[in-house]
Amino acid sequence: MRLVTVTVFVIAVTLVFAVPGVGPQLHAQQSPDAVRPAKRAFDGQAIFRYDTFGDEQLWTDVLRMHEVLPSVTPVTALSVGLKVDVDALPPGAVEALRANAINLNDPAVTLTLLRLNAVVGVKGTVSDTGQLTSVGITCALCHSSVDDSLAPGIGHRLDGWANSDLNVGAIAALSPAFDAATKAEFMTWGPGKYDPRHHAFDGTKIVALNTPSLPVVIPPAYGLKGVGFETYNGDGPISYWNSYVGVGQMGGHGSFSDPRIGLTITQPPDLVTPKLGALLDYQLSLKTPKPPAGSYDVEAAGRGRALFVTDAGCASCHRAPNFTDVLDGPDRSTPLLHSPESVGQDPAYAGRSATRLYRTTPLRGLQQHPPYFHDGSAPTLRAVVEHYDQLFRLGLSDGEKSDLVEYLKSL
Ligand code: HEC
Ligand code: HEC
Repeated sequence: MRLVTVTVFVIAVTLVFAVPGVGPQLHAQQSPDAVRPAKRAFDGQAIFRYDTFGDEQLWTDVLRMHEVLPSVTPVTALSVGLKVDVDALPPGAVEALRANAINLNDPAVTLTLLRLNAVVGVKGTVSDTGQLTSVGITCALCHSSVDDSLAPGIGHRLDGWANSDLNVGAIAALSPAFDAATKAEFMTWGPGKYDPRHHAFDGTKIVALNTPSLPVVIPPAYGLKGVGFETYNGDGPISYWNSYVGVGQMGGHGSFSDPRIGLTITQPPDLVTPKLGALLDYQLSLKTPKPPAGSYDVEAAGRGRALFVTDAGCASCHRAPNFTDVLDGPDRSTPLLHSPESVGQDPAYAGRSATRLYRTTPLRGLQQHPPYFHDGSAPTLRAVVEHYDQLFRLGLSDGEKSDLVEYLKSL
């Protein structure tokens, strides 16, 4: 029965894949947000939250995470930033958690959470005999958090929020597939960071892309409507990058090709490409969260806004409404970008991208996702302002710096 379902699914996917305009070649040359197949055969939210695109071929077959996770306690899982979706738990379990009647030091509880599909961004299959038989990951792992309504790390999903607690390096270092030196390198990344240009998975093996690793801050996936080009380097529209990550990083079963970075991965049938349209729509629907009430000084923010657009010159690049100038290029398919030197940023990460430049980051929900800049070099918004004050010799007074910070907190 199960086999039949899977076969029908594969056929359905193959059919959708045959629709014109939904090919694996998603080049940056396509106009922003352009990948829009006429018919939505998929549910974007479900893909974002639950779809592994068959990346069990990496996380289970190669990384063997299904052998490791059964000995991880919920306390450990929460400590590396994994989140628990309270809405996936039966009412009895919620009550028991509230009453502290569940032993979060018992690895068996981790298996139960996986069986309930309650670990955000991690999909495990548990057999009738209680064995974890496979593990895969979804977009939500890095780009969702929870509101901590029940306990720290346990609450309702917040899709699109950067998981700034997630220690991807520490999780990957659990895999028996990596040697000690690689694990040690992963362990240096720390929470909220990941290097998507260090390696890729070609469907059978992990291939080296760039070394040493240069971990970057996991950004939010909300507030991107109308922005145009995504990623720190503006390599392409959202679907270009979703395809890059879905295939090459998550290890999904699909195809990706970009000659600019010398990467081609071909794996038919493609379980990623046909879903990109629906996934795009869902991402564009994710709104920037409002700053928490009372979290900034409204009057100071007003003064900060005036500085932002005049004396401090921020708005020459961070242009309303999305606080970026990336679409101010000669045409809508050519991003306007900045050299690393012109914005005082490290050239190394840009050098590994297709454009070798940096995109003016659209400022959104800034209080939610410190640290700032691609490499997290500014731990606070104050550090961001100091960076620009020195770089552009703005000569801002202490009070003006504070006002700018209050304004940034309001975005
Ligand atoms: C292992 C963690 C991880 C996973 C899983 C992951 N991402 Fe990301 N994502 C990142 C990092 C790190 C970046 C920043 C890379 C860059 O810009 O160079 C990023 C960038 C992005 C951006 C660009 C945001 C911006 O500000 O322009 C979007 C959109 C995005 N990811 C969506 C997704 C989607 C959709 C998926 C699932 C197909 C996904 N990501 C899976 C870590 C992850
Ligand atoms: C010349 C164009 C330019 C100017 C002027 C500029 N920025 Fe930026 N800004 C950028 C670029 C490019 C980035 C991305 C840098 C990176 O990630 O390494 C960025 C990143 C940022 C970020 C980090 C956002 C995040 O989510 O990590 C903040 C905050 C910011 N700028 C605020 C400001 C403020 C405040 C000013 C004025 C004092 C300013 N910028 C002036 C181009 C500019």
